Amino acid sequence: ALSKYTICSQNDSQQGNIEEKISYDGDQVLRVETVNSKQRKTIKELENQGLIQKWFTNSTSVDIMVKKANSIIVKNALNNGSLSFDVFIDDIQRAINEENPPMNEDELSGRQGHNVTFQNYHKISDIYKYIDYITQEYPDFVEVQNIGNSYQGVPLRVIKIKPDQNTTDIKSIWVDGGIHAREWIAVSSVLYIINELVFNRDSLEPHMKNIEFHILPIVNPDGYKHSHEKERLWRKNRNKPTANSCIGTDLNRNWDYHWGESGASKYSCAEIYRGVKAGSEPETQAVVKYIMKNPKIFKGFVTFHSYGQYILYPWGYAKRVPSDHTEVQRVGQVIATAIKKTTSVEYTVGNSATLLYPAAGASDDWAKGVAKIKYAYTIELRDTGKYGFILPPSEILSTGKEAFVAVSTLASEISSQ
Ligand code: ARG
Ligand code: ZN
Repeated sequence: ALSKYTICSQNDSQQGNIEEKISYDGDQVLRVETVNSKQRKTIKELENQGLIQKWFTNSTSVDIMVKKANSIIVKNALNNGSLSFDVFIDDIQRAINEENPPMNEDELSGRQGHNVTFQNYHKISDIYKYIDYITQEYPDFVEVQNIGNSYQGVPLRVIKIKPDQNTTDIKSIWVDGGIHAREWIAVSSVLYIINELVFNRDSLEPHMKNIEFHILPIVNPDGYKHSHEKERLWRKNRNKPTANSCIGTDLNRNWDYHWGESGASKYSCAEIYRGVKAGSEPETQAVVKYIMKNPKIFKGFVTFHSYGQYILYPWGYAKRVPSDHTEVQRVGQVIATAIKKTTSVEYTVGNSATLLYPAAGASDDWAKGVAKIKYAYTIELRDTGKYGFILPPSEILSTGKEAFVAVSTLASEISSQ
């Protein structure tokens, strides 16, 4: 039978020819309580009909985006199925308009080399300039390497921050952000981590200078750019595998470990499309190749996402935990406690399939299952749904601090082992 997914696919964005920015005028985000399987089924059906798009799910609720034109029919369906909901975002476009005001000129004048502030979200060219700048200015301990190109040919740049002493047994931590295009706070937070490691090097705790960091701030530059220029809520990369497929593979369903199992879709139009085969995407391949050159040096792997405030660990492909989960949970809890001490914000620690949902082919599972990195985490940054992906710029700095504390706490645990 013809897939129901082909029906909802024929819009401009899937065809890749939108000239203008997509408007989200009057579109809403609803939080719907889903405690039983009948309620979850109603949501699944609305999703299959293309009437809603999921933003976030955990075991008790789901956040759905509803286009203005579908608002009445969706709300009726929810009421008829006795699903209770709250309006979390009343008008998505209004939230977007307030999300990234123009940069403050006073703040920028007098600066040299780059314009990355933690008061705005930045476009890709500014971020790449920032990377160039720090590598030029701090050649003693910063190195940059192009590890491959995105589908559209944008270089994927890993920033390596070297330890003070060059010992023979290097302990490394991998950090990345922006595998999902619309999760801008993940990118800004990874930049904040770089910022602390580079510009505040003198005041870093000693253990931070014993660890080598390998940092990829934007895993999905094509999607990130598209999210800035055309479609704020874009998630996937921008690959178009065949002439009649939709655009985009979910890069966090593309990794070669239990690829294609639960929580990933074989339909190219789906938001969680797994790709044509395991590791099919150039962005995934570049990271795999880089880490697998010397996987033994990596003791930690942290991939930043938003939103929900969770510290998640494998497995994600099914509700199963690895044999060392007690230790991985313990360190996750140490991280959450450190964050709470810093900003008072609470992060929940646990197994990703259990706390959220099974999702196979994600990078954390690959890091643990294939590269054998013991401490592999997915960190879902702020918030818990008030703004979701459209987090106001006033939270960039404090969320960055949480990400930095997470990584430095992990580094401390790792360097003492
Ligand atoms: N929000 C992330 C996603 O859906 C969670 C991934 C968690 N990890 C996992 N292996 N399922 O991609
Ligand atoms: Zn994500």
